[in-house]
Amino acid sequence: MKINFINLQSQYQQYKEEIDKEVHDVLDTSAYIMGKKVSDLENNLSKFVGVKHSIACSSGTDALILALMAIDIQPGDEIITTPFTFIATAESIAFLGAIPVFIDVDEKTFNMNPSLIEEKITSKTKAIIPVSLFGQISDMDKINNIAKKYNLQVIEDAAQSFGAEYNTKKSCNLSDLACTSFFPAKPLGCYGDGGAVFTNNDKLAEKIRVILNHGQTKRYIHSHIGINGRLDAIQAGVLNIKLKYYDEELNKRQEIATRYNTELKNVITPYVEKNNISVWAQYCILVEDREKILNKCSSLNIPTGVYYPIPLHLQEVFNYLGYKEGDFPITEKLSKSIMALPMSAFLTKEEQNYIIGAMNE
Ligand SMILES: Cc1ncc(COP(=O)(O)O)c(C=O)c1O
Repeated sequence: MKINFINLQSQYQQYKEEIDKEVHDVLDTSAYIMGKKVSDLENNLSKFVGVKHSIACSSGTDALILALMAIDIQPGDEIITTPFTFIATAESIAFLGAIPVFIDVDEKTFNMNPSLIEEKITSKTKAIIPVSLFGQISDMDKINNIAKKYNLQVIEDAAQSFGAEYNTKKSCNLSDLACTSFFPAKPLGCYGDGGAVFTNNDKLAEKIRVILNHGQTKRYIHSHIGINGRLDAIQAGVLNIKLKYYDEELNKRQEIATRYNTELKNVITPYVEKNNISVWAQYCILVEDREKILNKCSSLNIPTGVYYPIPLHLQEVFNYLGYKEGDFPITEKLSKSIMALPMSAFLTKEEQNYIIGAMNE
């Protein structure tokens, strides 16, 4: 049996006719960048999320950079975030010369622990970036309340949580700004790089649209330093098709996660808060003796992943921030015992049985 960690081929075969038509439309019209497919996508995303503005862009990383630029983050500003995430969360902060200030995560949800935020707030703190890790949204009510008290902006890093819910509200509609990724392996992925920024604030939305196109307000008239953060039409076309079936796919992911949760033995299965619905970007378990299990999985042709083996505060690139081993014990412990199992809406019953059987053995 050949199991894929994420089965993008079966997904493509299922929607092939519609996706091929979208791609050929673009080739036939030569409207490659932005244009109607991108604005249709933005409307579809807004409807799905329930948010006023969706601004499609070139990647999840660029979405974070655009959000930070939109709120005028300057060198030396401090942004509170978590060290248990993909590099892009903190990289985008550092890219603008600002300082990522890490706090440890909650040991059950693996998300930012809001009770640790206040002690890190200084006169330089400008924003908080909670990461909705593995598809589960952070405790946004608590985070938003703290932000309000100290006049800080909140940017949800929703790269892994598009479609997730918190108190019946969707991810990307729970903070001043939110950013997602459409990297192919994400729950909603395109066929290249892509992302989006979300906000209910008209002024921020307008500014982001300007910044993502070289700070251009009219053709060759530039009001801001910007970037080339545009999305191309082929990616928008692919996403428009995949979004039509996204709710169905999320239900399937939920079924698979429920099976894993109930049938896996001798491992710590993921904890999801009662007021949350995860989209299971990754299905991560905690195990003892991870190396042995990873090797065994590999010998049984079960693909696995480790998110994340080295926390951000211990990455060489962030040495200059002065953190050391022991600073974030929960993050460090998780990084040594976490592993991910195959997860996608197209993981067959047979594959699920094989994985669960092998893991329990
Ligand atoms: C938490 C998180 N933030 C940001 C990103 C960056 O997204 P992209 O790869 O689209 O730039 C990712 C993608 O892996 C991510 O997982």
